[in-house]
Amino acid sequence: MSAFQTAIVPAAGLGTRFLPTTKAVPKELLPVVDTPGIELVATEAAQAGATKLVIVTSPGKDAVAEYFRPQPELEQTLEARGKTELVEKVRRAPNLIKVETAIQDKALGLGHAVGCAEGNLTGDDEAVAVLLPDDLVLPTGVLTRMAEARERFGGSVLCAFDIPKDQISAYGVFDVRDTGDDDVKRVVGMVEKPKPEDAPSTFAAAGRYLLDRAVFDALKRITPGAGGELQLTDAIALLINEGHPVHVVVHRGGRHDLGNPAGFLKAAVDFALEHPDYGPELGEWLRERLGNS
Ligand code: UTP
Repeated sequence: MSAFQTAIVPAAGLGTRFLPTTKAVPKELLPVVDTPGIELVATEAAQAGATKLVIVTSPGKDAVAEYFRPQPELEQTLEARGKTELVEKVRRAPNLIKVETAIQDKALGLGHAVGCAEGNLTGDDEAVAVLLPDDLVLPTGVLTRMAEARERFGGSVLCAFDIPKDQISAYGVFDVRDTGDDDVKRVVGMVEKPKPEDAPSTFAAAGRYLLDRAVFDALKRITPGAGGELQLTDAIALLINEGHPVHVVVHRGGRHDLGNPAGFLKAAVDFALEHPDYGPELGEWLRERLGNS
């Protein structure tokens, strides 16, 4: 049995960096080529062994949950027209994983959003995975390594990237101790966006968490932190201070930040260049466009 059955995807934020689009379209549904980011992370969760996905949405963002519901009429229309490949695409998200929703009435922060999913857990959920839908961690598979680390060390396991020191100020940075395994470190603290000279390490946080159920109790005891929001990292810091084991698995791969237009565009171009229908023409156009600038 996998270390977790339930994956939580917080998707109730305001998405202000994508305004004005996010007045009407949740940023989690913006297409990376033709597939919304939230389907990419739902696929990752299912591949890592999750059987249930709890999407935390806000009252105005029903479309996010709607995306995972079957659309029999559309499927029939496509089938009648012989569009088998499109039928497959339309069925993909509803068939991936069992989806439930939790509602966060107000965007009070990521920690608060995760806490809103507690009512969706069962007695069997000793740990839960949390995946931020605007963070693509590539290639997928890090959650499986995080589950192995939880088996070895217990407690909670986070994901880290080893970032060049001169870029570290953009990230939450872990203060770590060695475990004897180069890719697994014990976390003793965290610093948000430090100057390079003050950074306790070059290991920066990514949007993947495997959290012991104890985090829900910690989330009830934190007070608003950075930006006046209830921060998930404050609940994790509380657990560390109370002696709960927290480790990071270092992921040596790529990443795309879909949470802002610049990062989103890079992801879209990256995925499109790999796409057999669009890649060759896009590549040619980009070379010409950049050659002329
Ligand atoms: P972000 O800070 O990247 O998303 O939160 P945001 O707040 O929607 O975006 P901006 O900053 O206004 O542009 C990371 C993830 O946490 C969710 C977001 O939906 C996003 O997937 N989140 C954040 C919540 O679910 N609730 C919150 O209160 C805050």
